[in-house]
Amino acid sequence: MSEPVFEVDESGEELTRADTAQSAELSPAEKAATREEHARLAEGALVRADELVAGYVPGVNILRGCDFYLQEGELVGIIGPNGAGKSTLLKTLFGLIPVRSGSVTLRGENITSAPAHRLVSLGVGYVPQNNNVFPSLSIEENMQMGVYLRPKTFKDRFDYVAELFPMLGERRRIKAGSLSGGERQMVAMGRALMMDPSVLLLDEPSAGLSPAYQDEVFIRCRRINATGVSIIMVEQNARRCLQICDRGYVLDQGRNAYTATGESLMHDPKVIELYLGTLAKAY
Ligand SMILES: Nc1ncnc2c1ncn2[C@@H]1O[C@H](COP(=O)(O)OP(=O)(O)OP(=O)(O)O)[C@@H](O)[C@H]1O
Ligand SMILES: [Mg+2]
Repeated sequence: MSEPVFEVDESGEELTRADTAQSAELSPAEKAATREEHARLAEGALVRADELVAGYVPGVNILRGCDFYLQEGELVGIIGPNGAGKSTLLKTLFGLIPVRSGSVTLRGENITSAPAHRLVSLGVGYVPQNNNVFPSLSIEENMQMGVYLRPKTFKDRFDYVAELFPMLGERRRIKAGSLSGGERQMVAMGRALMMDPSVLLLDEPSAGLSPAYQDEVFIRCRRINATGVSIIMVEQNARRCLQICDRGYVLDQGRNAYTATGESLMHDPKVIELYLGTLAKAY
């Protein structure tokens, strides 16, 4: 793993994306990604992160001043190249990575580095990109783990989840470890939904799925969102993600590069050239 390379000016000062962008005309989506615009637009947000700096190894920052907000009821997508820090941002919002500076709030309450169990009890659900099921437990037992804080709600919640993902009801006695990667992703989403979260953090929900299943997952995410769950979704399938999200962020080298509605990002010439062109070829 290496620290991202940044341009250096004549005095040896590191030039950040924000510095270099200042000199050129900013596109609307670049301007919206600046600190000033973020501070203006993030007012009253359900989830809000300001100037997050975080990383795994001492001295190496992966998030390098990242701003983010999610308004009540929104479905917000996060796209960007491999290694941009998308998963790291979700993990940081969920308190799994030490925050070196900056803050995260939920409904205005400071939750920076709050432990996961507290976030779950505050209504935040998180579905990680990998290792997101208990493989030796059955689907049903995985769902029970999702409501360990409120076991009495199991039946009602499982009915709701099985309606969204019929496979989980039909194959409830099967061990999660025997499922495909995509099916495990559904188990993981189902488990997070068992707690009736108000905010769901999804890391690549469509990864490893066939195109038909991918579509289903995107449609279900919209349905879950329509039932009142606000969603933050990280996706490799950038175009599909931008099609269904209310707003999107393009993350690059641990910083926001662009943000706008999904529709505007999809048609932004710079976003297409830098992020959708190559990604689109991969799909
Ligand atoms: N557990 C870890 N320990 C040390 N470094 C890590 C760890 N996880 C991720 N990193 C590093 O952090 C950087 C960002 O990784 P991250 O997983 O957030 O990227 P990403 O945008 O989610 O990429 P992808 O699209 O491949 O999932 C990478 O350089 C990666 O090597
Ligand atoms: Mg990732």
